[in-house]
Amino acid sequence: MRALQEFHRRSLHDRDAFWTEQAKMVHWEKPFTKVLDYSRPPFAKWFVGGETNLCYNAVDRHLRDRAGQKALVWISTEVDREKSYTYREMHEEVQRAAAMMVALGVGKGDRVIIYMPNIPEAVFAILACARIGAVHSVVFGGFAAASLAARIDDAKPKLMVTADGGSRMGKVLPYKALVDESIRLARHPPAHVLIFRRGLDADMPVVAGRDVDWAGLAAKHAGAQVPCTWLEASEPSYILYTSGTTGKPKGVQRDVGGHAVAMAASMQHIYCGHAGETIFTTSDIGWAVGHSYIIYAPLIAGMTSILYEGVPVRPDAGVWWKIVQDYRVSVMFSAPTAIRVLKKHDLAWLKKYDLSSLRHLFLAGEPLDEPTHAWISQGLDKPVIDHYWQTETGWPILSAMPGVEPTPIKFGSPSFAVYGYDLKLLRETDASEAGPGEKAVVVIEPPLPPGCMTTIWGDDERFVKTYFSTFSKKQVYSTFDWGIRDKDGYYFILGRTDDVINVAGHRLGTREIEEAVNMHSNIAECAVVGVADALKGQMPLAFAVAKDASKLGSIEGRKAFEKEIMDTVDKQLGAIARPKAVHLVTLLPKTRSGKTLRRAIQALAEGRDPGDLTTIEDPGALEQLKAALAARSA
Ligand code: PRX
Repeated sequence: MRALQEFHRRSLHDRDAFWTEQAKMVHWEKPFTKVLDYSRPPFAKWFVGGETNLCYNAVDRHLRDRAGQKALVWISTEVDREKSYTYREMHEEVQRAAAMMVALGVGKGDRVIIYMPNIPEAVFAILACARIGAVHSVVFGGFAAASLAARIDDAKPKLMVTADGGSRMGKVLPYKALVDESIRLARHPPAHVLIFRRGLDADMPVVAGRDVDWAGLAAKHAGAQVPCTWLEASEPSYILYTSGTTGKPKGVQRDVGGHAVAMAASMQHIYCGHAGETIFTTSDIGWAVGHSYIIYAPLIAGMTSILYEGVPVRPDAGVWWKIVQDYRVSVMFSAPTAIRVLKKHDLAWLKKYDLSSLRHLFLAGEPLDEPTHAWISQGLDKPVIDHYWQTETGWPILSAMPGVEPTPIKFGSPSFAVYGYDLKLLRETDASEAGPGEKAVVVIEPPLPPGCMTTIWGDDERFVKTYFSTFSKKQVYSTFDWGIRDKDGYYFILGRTDDVINVAGHRLGTREIEEAVNMHSNIAECAVVGVADALKGQMPLAFAVAKDASKLGSIEGRKAFEKEIMDTVDKQLGAIARPKAVHLVTLLPKTRSGKTLRRAIQALAEGRDPGDLTTIEDPGALEQLKAALAARSA
C-alpha cells in the first residue's frame, strides 16, 4: 500500500505540484497562474486564472484522434431502441443544441433547468450549456411538480428543457405535463420550454409563445457552429439540488476547472477507464453519479459511455450483463439497490454472458451490505469496489484506487481516503480525533479538493453554516455520515448523523417528507423516520397526528386517510418519497423543549433499544408508538 499512501500524502503535502500534474489531463485555453486560492476559507478557488471549457474537453478535444469513435451509446429497454453517436456526431448535435439555446436567449451565466429522461438529447442539452457557459441544473425525473417548482424558484432559469414523456417499466411518465404543473406553481417561470417529442405523450398540451418544439428549432440550426466560451476555472458550471435537513433543497454549485480536473483524474486513478474503452454507468442523469460518470468523466477521458433507459430486470435479469458483453464494457458503475434487486434472480444470469472485458464493478450511493458485496463479487469473479461520496463532492471520497495501486477488498468497506481529501473521524462531543474502531463523524479538513461544491447556489452563508459549523472548535466540512476506521485503515460508513435517509440510493430529507405530509389538510403534525428495508436500504415511515380523528375510528377510515397522505407525498415530492406506512397517533414523543425524538422513534420502528429517554415530556407518546407499530405487524 506504499504507492497509495505516498500518492495521498503528496496530494495534501505537495499539493501544488500534485494538482498541477493532474491538471495536465485537461485542455487549458489559458494556463492558470495559481493552483489554489484559499484566502477566504472555507471557499476554495482552484486553478486560478486558468481558462477552459467542459464541453471542449468532453467533445472537441477528441475530434483529432477519435472523431469516428462512439462517444455515446443510448440503449433503451423501455422503448426498445439503441442509437450511437460518434464524437463527430456529438460535436454536431451539441453545437446545434447550443445554437438553439442561444436563439432562445440563453447566454453565459443563465440557468437552464433540464428535466428529461435518460435520452441522448439530455446529454446534448447539458453539454450545450457547458459550451456556451450557461449553468445547467438537471432535475431527476422522479421528482414531483412541487419539488420542481421549488428548484425553478431557486435557480430562476431562462429556459427549461424537457421531453414529452419518459418511460418506466413500460409505463409512460408525462414529463411535459409535470413541467407545466411546476411552472404554474413557480414564482419565477422560464421564458421558454424546449420540448423533445418522443411520441410518448400525443396529448401533450402546448403553451403558445412559451413552448418550443426541439425538432422544429433544430431544423433551423442544422450544421450550426457555436464556438466554446472560455470560462475562468472557478466560474459555475452547474447546480445540482440535493436534500438536507431542512425542507429547502440545496443547490450544490460546481466550478469548471476543478471539476474538469477531478473528473479526468478520477477516471484514471480510481475507475481505470481509458480512451477508447467503454463505461456503463447505470444511474439516472439527474443524479450526481449520472453527471460525473455517464457524462463528464467518460467523455473527458475519450471513452464510449453507455446511457441506459430502463430497469435492471427487464426484459430479464441478464440485460445489463448482455450490454457488458456486447459493448465490451471495461468499467461498470451501479448502486447497491440494483444489485440487491438482481440478487433475487438466478445467479445463472451473471454466468450467461462473456464478461471478460469487465475489469471492475463500482458501487456507490448507499451502504453496500456485506452479503450483497460478497454475492456480486463471487458471481462476477471480478473486484467489486464499494466507494463512498456525495453530491457535494462530485467524485469519490473513499475508494480503492486500482489505477494507483490495487489493494485487497474488505466486504462492507469503501476502503481508503481518496487523494485530495484530508479525511478525519471526529468525536461528536469535542471534535477530537477518534481512535481505531471508534464510531465518529466523517469530516474533511478544508480546503475541499478540486471538483467539490464551491458553494450553495446564491447562498454563501448557508454553505458555511450548513457544512462547516458542526463543531464550534474547528471549521471542518461535515459529511453528516458516521464512520469507523479499523486497525488496517479501512473505513466503514455507518449511516447519517442528520435526518437524511437513503431510499434505494435516493437521498431524501425526512423534514422534506414531513412537510409534504403536513400539506394534507387534516394533519396536525407528524414525524418521519427512515427504517431499514431489505431491498431499498431504507424507507420512510410516518407517524401522524390528525386534527380531526372523528372519521378515523374504523379501519376503512384509517386506510382511506393513509392513502390520501401517500397521494399528498406523491404529489409534493414524488413516489420515491412515499412512506412505507403512516401510523396514526395522538401524540409524538418530544423533549420538554419540544424537539421530536426522531432517533428514539427510529430505534423503536426498527425494533432496537431507543436508549436514554429521560428527556421525554410524556412517556405516553412512546407507548402509543409501540402500540401502533405492534398493531401493524400483528
Ligand atoms: O450517506 C452517504 C450515502 O449517500 C450519501 C450521499 O448521497 P448522494 O448525495 O445522493 O450522493 C451519491 C453519490 C455517490 C452519503 O452522505 N452513501 C454514498 N455512498 C455510500 C454511502 N453510504 C455508505 N456507503 C457508500 N458507499
